Amino acid sequence: MSAATTASAAPIPVGFLGCGFIAELHASMLAGCREANQITAVYDTDRERCASFATKWGAAPAASEDEVFDRCEAVFICTWTSEHRRLAVRAATRGRHVFCEKPLAFDSADAAAMVEAVKRTQVVNSVGLVLRSTPAMRTLRELTRDPSSGRVMSIVFRDDQYIPIQGMYASDWRGDRERAGRGVLLEHSIHDLDLLEWLAGPIARVAATQSFYHDIAGIEDAVAVVAQFESGANATLSTLWHDVTSRPSQRRIEVFCERALITLEDEWSGPVHVERDAPAGAIRQTIQNDELSSWLERRGIQSDWPHDSFLRAIREGGSATPSFADALRAHRIADAIYLSAENDGRSFAVPK
Ligand SMILES: NC(=O)c1ccc[n+]([C@@H]2O[C@H](COP(=O)([O-])OP(=O)(O)OC[C@H]3O[C@@H](n4cnc5c(N)ncnc54)[C@H](O)[C@@H]3O)[C@@H](O)[C@H]2O)c1
Repeated sequence: MSAATTASAAPIPVGFLGCGFIAELHASMLAGCREANQITAVYDTDRERCASFATKWGAAPAASEDEVFDRCEAVFICTWTSEHRRLAVRAATRGRHVFCEKPLAFDSADAAAMVEAVKRTQVVNSVGLVLRSTPAMRTLRELTRDPSSGRVMSIVFRDDQYIPIQGMYASDWRGDRERAGRGVLLEHSIHDLDLLEWLAGPIARVAATQSFYHDIAGIEDAVAVVAQFESGANATLSTLWHDVTSRPSQRRIEVFCERALITLEDEWSGPVHVERDAPAGAIRQTIQNDELSSWLERRGIQSDWPHDSFLRAIREGGSATPSFADALRAHRIADAIYLSAENDGRSFAVPK
C-alpha cells in the first residue's frame, strides 16, 4: 500500500494490465503517492511475469483482463502499444479510471477514439508523459517562461537512445511494427513532441526526414524535424536509436530566448544552465541534481507526478494531467511528421 496512506481514506484499488519494465516504475511511484492506493489485481499474458510482479507488489495475479476490471477501480495499461486502444476503451466502458502508457496508439485517429471513449464514460484519464514532471524539465520550463528571458526564438532538441531491443529494455516488440506501430519517433520521442508544445506553445507546421539504419521494416531509427510554432519560434528535433550501448537514453535541449539561453543536459538530473543578459553583465547559473527540487520549492512549485494527479482526480473529482487529450496533440504532430517524411520532407500543417 502507498507509504503515505491517510488514516481516513480507503485505498483506491488499482490494477495493472502488463507487468513489464514500465509497470515496475509505476508501481514504485504509486507506493510514494500521497493518495492511498493498493495494487489489487494484475494481469500479463506472460504468466511468469504476472506472478512475480504480483508477489513483489502484494497483488493477486489475475487470470484475465476481466478479473482486473472486476476487482479494481483504476487500471494502468502498460502493455505494448498495439493493445492500448482496445484495453483503454474496454476499461472506460467498464467505468474504470484509466492511466495508459504513451504512445496512446499508432496514430491520431486511434488516439482520438480513446479520447472520445473517456469523455463519453467520464472516467478520469491520464497518460505516461512523465517527463513533464521531472525537476530538470520543470526548471527548464520555469526559466523559459520567466518574463526576463523574453520570447522563445528557437529550440535545439537532441534525443538519443540505444535501440531498445537490447540491454535493460530487451523488448523484441519494439522491433515489430505490428506491436510497436512505428520506430523511434512514435515509441520514444512522442515525449519530445509533447515537451516542445509544453515549453513553447502550439506547433503550426513540420517538415521531416527519416532513416532505417537497422533495416527493420516500418521501424525508423533516425528522424530529423524542423518545426514552426504558431508564435513564430522554430525548433529542430533530432532523435535516433543507435548502438552505443553505454547510452541508454538522454535528452539535451537548448532553448534560445530573446535575452537568455537555457540548456538542459539530461532530462532527469540536469544540469540546467542559464545565461542571461543583465545591466551589470551576463549572469550564468547552473542547477543540478537535488538543487533542482529546492530551486523549484523556493519558487512555490510543487512536484506533481501524473500518478498523484490521477489518484487525486479519482478521489476528489476533476481531471488529471497530462490527459488523453494532451497526448492526442502529440499524436497529431507525429502524424504530420510521418506524412512529411513520406513526402520528401515537404512541410505539413499540424491540424488543431
Ligand atoms: N513513459 C515512459 O517513459 C515509458 C518508458 C518505457 C515504456 N513505455 C511504454 O510502456 C509500454 C510498455 O513498455 P515496457 O517497456 O514496459 O514493455 P515490456 O515488454 O517490458 O512490458 C510489456 C508487457 O505487456 C505484456 N502484454 C502484452 N499484451 C498484453 C495483454 N493484452 N494483456 C496483458 N499483458 C500484455 C507483455 O507480456 C509484457 O510483459 C509501451 O507502450 C512503451 O512505449 C513508456
